[in-house]
Amino acid sequence: PDLFQPERKNSKGFDLAHQPTLDAIDAARTPYATHQWQVAPILAGTSAPKDPEPVTNPADPADSPGTVAWASAADVDTALEAAKPWGVPASERAAVLNKVADLYEENFGELFAIIHREAGKMVFDAVAELREAVDFLRYYAANAPEATPVGTFTCISPWNFPLAIFTGQISAALAAGNAVISKPAEQTPLISHLAVQLMHRAGVPKEALQLLPGAGDVGAALTSDSRVDGVAFTGSTDTALKIRAAMAANMAPGAPLIAETGGLNAMIVDSTALPEQAVQAIIESAFQSAGQRCSALRCLYVQEDIAGPFIEMLTGAMDALSIGTPWSLSTDVGPVIDEEARQGIADHIQTARAEGRLMHELKTPNAGTFIAPSLIRVNGIGDMEREIFGPVLHLATFRSENLDDVIDAINATGYGLTFGLQTRIDDRVQHVTDRIHAGNMYVNRNQIGAIVGSQPFGGEGLSGTGPKAGGPHYLARFCRHDAPRQGE
Ligand code: NAD
Ligand code: ALA
Repeated sequence: PDLFQPERKNSKGFDLAHQPTLDAIDAARTPYATHQWQVAPILAGTSAPKDPEPVTNPADPADSPGTVAWASAADVDTALEAAKPWGVPASERAAVLNKVADLYEENFGELFAIIHREAGKMVFDAVAELREAVDFLRYYAANAPEATPVGTFTCISPWNFPLAIFTGQISAALAAGNAVISKPAEQTPLISHLAVQLMHRAGVPKEALQLLPGAGDVGAALTSDSRVDGVAFTGSTDTALKIRAAMAANMAPGAPLIAETGGLNAMIVDSTALPEQAVQAIIESAFQSAGQRCSALRCLYVQEDIAGPFIEMLTGAMDALSIGTPWSLSTDVGPVIDEEARQGIADHIQTARAEGRLMHELKTPNAGTFIAPSLIRVNGIGDMEREIFGPVLHLATFRSENLDDVIDAINATGYGLTFGLQTRIDDRVQHVTDRIHAGNMYVNRNQIGAIVGSQPFGGEGLSGTGPKAGGPHYLARFCRHDAPRQGE
C-alpha cells in the first residue's frame, strides 16, 4: 500500500481559535449536557434483560451520564455463535467504513458530550480523539484488502482512547472482512455503544460486529475460546501477557495476537536544546490528557550543565497549567479516570514526598478524581518500577559523557514505546536513533499524538507486538496468509 495515499485526507478537525466554531461545538454538545444514556450488549441474537448499573463522571461525583447492563457469560456464548465474517467485496466494506466516518463527524456533539462526561476528557482531547477515530476509519477503508479474513476477532480496548482506539481496532478487523466481537473498557461503555450503533447505521451487519460491555472476565472469556480466531488488544502489558497465555492454551496455533501495551517513555534534553521548545514539548508530553496516554513522557533526562535554569523554566511552565472541570478551552489538565487510578497515583506521589524527592507539585481540586501535575526526582529510569499512568513527571540529570549509559538504562527497562530527543547536534540525533529501542522516536517536538497514515504508532519489547496502528503493515495481520485470495 501507498503510505501517502494521495486520495485520502486526514480529518480536518476543528479550528479551536475560531469563536464561531467553538460556539457551534457548544451548541451541538449542550443538548446532551444532562442526557442519560442507557446501554446494553449489542448482539446478533437475544440477550436476557439485566439490572443496569450507573456510569460515573470522573470530574463530577454528582453527575452520572447513564447506565450500563453488563454482558453475561450467556451473552459471550450468543455472540460467538452468531459471529459471521463480513463477506462482501473490499470496496463495499470500504464504502461503509467511510460512511461510518461521516456519521462520526455528523454526530460530534453527542460523541463529545459522552467523551467529556464518561471519560473526563476536555475540549482539546475530545477533538483529537474524534479526529483520530475518523482517520483510522478512512485509512483502513482506503487500504481494505481483498485477502481472506482470519475469521472472528476479539477486539479489547482501554478507556484512555475510548473512541479512537476502540474504532481503530474494529475498523481494521472489519476492513479485512472479519467478524468482530468488541469488548470496550469497563470505564467507558457509553461511547463504545454509540460508536457501534453508528457503525450498524452505516451498514455494518450485526453478525459482523457485536458489543459486549464488561470487565476483565468478559475479556478473558473472549480470549480463551476456540471459536475466536484472533485478538486485537490495547491495554496494559500485564493483561497482554495473560491474553497471550490464554490464547496459547485455547486457540489454534498461530492465531494472531496484536497487542499494543504500556511504556516507560523517556526524553533526553541536552545542553544545545532550545529551552522554550523543550519545555513546551515536555509539558504537552507529560501532562496533556492528564498524562493518561501510553505515549506520555514519564522520565526526563536533562543534561547537568543546564539543569538549574531549565528546571526553573519547567516548573514555571507547570505553574501556568490550569486544572479543573474539563469542558473549557482554558483547562489544561482534566481528571484521571477513576478513584482507583487517583489513589494509586496519589500514593506514588506521597512516597516521593516522604522520601524528599517531590520537586514540584500543583494544587489538586477537592472534588472529582483530579491529580495535579507533579515533578519527582529519580536517579534514573531504573528507579521506576512501573508505568505511573497520570500527570507525574520523573526527572534525572546526566553528564554529556554518560549519554550512552542513559540510552542503555532506557533500553534496559524492556519497554520501547515513545522516546523524545531535544538537541541541535545532527550527529547526536543519528547516534541516539541508532541505539534507542523505541517504536516512535520524536526529535525537537512533543512525543504524543501520532498522526494516522503519517506516523504509524506502536512499540517494541514489553510495549507491543507490532505491527504499528495507522501504518501500512497493520491490516495484513487481520488477513490469512495461507488461503487463496477471494475470487482465485
Ligand atoms: P487494562 O489492561 O487494565 O485493560 C485493558 C482492557 O483489557 C480492558 O478492556 C479490560 O477490561 C481488559 N481486560 C482486563 N483483564 C483482562 C483479561 N484477563 N483478559 C482479557 N481482557 C482483559 O489497561 P487499562 O488500564 O484499561 O489501560 C491503560 C493501559 O493501556 C496503560 O498501560 C497504557 O500504556 C496502555 N495503552 C497502550 C496503548 C498503545 O497503543 N500501546 C494505547 C493506549 C493505552
Ligand atoms: N496514538 C496515541 C499517541 O500517539 C497513543 O499519543
